[in-house]
Amino acid sequence: MIVSVPSTPASGRIVLITGASSGIGQATARRLAESGHRVFLGARRVERIAAVAADIRTQGGNAEHHVLDVTDRRSMGAFVHAARERHGRIDVLVNNAGVMPLSRLDALKVDEWNQMIDVNIRGVLHGIAAVLPIMRSQGEGHIVNIASVSGHRADPTAAVYGATKFAVRAISEGLRQESRDVRVTVVSPGLTHSDLAESITDPGTRDAVRAQMQIAMPASAIADAVAYAIGQPPAVDVNEIVVRPTAQA
Ligand SMILES: NC(=O)c1ccc[n+]([C@@H]2O[C@H](COP(=O)([O-])OP(=O)(O)OC[C@H]3O[C@@H](n4cnc5c(N)ncnc54)[C@H](OP(=O)(O)O)[C@@H]3O)[C@@H](O)[C@H]2O)c1
Repeated sequence: MIVSVPSTPASGRIVLITGASSGIGQATARRLAESGHRVFLGARRVERIAAVAADIRTQGGNAEHHVLDVTDRRSMGAFVHAARERHGRIDVLVNNAGVMPLSRLDALKVDEWNQMIDVNIRGVLHGIAAVLPIMRSQGEGHIVNIASVSGHRADPTAAVYGATKFAVRAISEGLRQESRDVRVTVVSPGLTHSDLAESITDPGTRDAVRAQMQIAMPASAIADAVAYAIGQPPAVDVNEIVVRPTAQA
């Protein structure tokens, strides 16, 4: 028997992306705009997202930006409100913003632990809180959370960072099980070229990560994974994607 799955257009969706000023977020914005989606970029460095959005428009894409600090629930609310005012709906939120100041636990960099919890966990929850009522009222939507291979395995210097990414996967799976209308996808990147290692303040750890980055993938590899998940028909929910460089252990 041939079963046909009803589909909406694979392009033209309203896609909000947090942390779009560099790395994976910026690459995802460019990739999705190339596919015909309307992207709405958020980050703290507003001049950078303004420049990325302007460049996307120059290439013929549809892009706008709004300042965003994901640790501040009101800032997230204003970001989502601005996108909805502009487009009338929210189809996809890509919770991508993240920080990774790796260090050993006995270095006691407690402020950095708290920063990772605030950005990587609270930021994702703030995003979900801002869009979920809208998506429920629409009867459809899609939340894409960027986790990490560190959300699948624990490693030295990555105890707290990994804990935040395990948390992202747990939150995503809970949301998925609670949802019959909103799709939930977790994308877990391995080593990917970006500015992420620059947030490491421990010199030894930063040098080690920079050395590992020699085998890193381009950020476009993760953007392609996000585009694949978004491009499926509404009745098809891609739940988990792990993408590593071939040479990564
Ligand atoms: N690169 C990798 O190897 C790798 C591997 C696994 C997972 N990841 C995950 O991929 C995601 C993107 O990271 P990336 O590798 O692309 O690093 P990146 O180049 O450093 O980008 C991080 C982004 O997060 C934004 N950000 C940080 N704090 C924020 C805040 N409080 N509010 C709003 N935006 C904030 C930054 O923008 P502003 O500073 O302008 O605010 C920036 O756009 C993260 O969740 C990271 O954990 C990356």
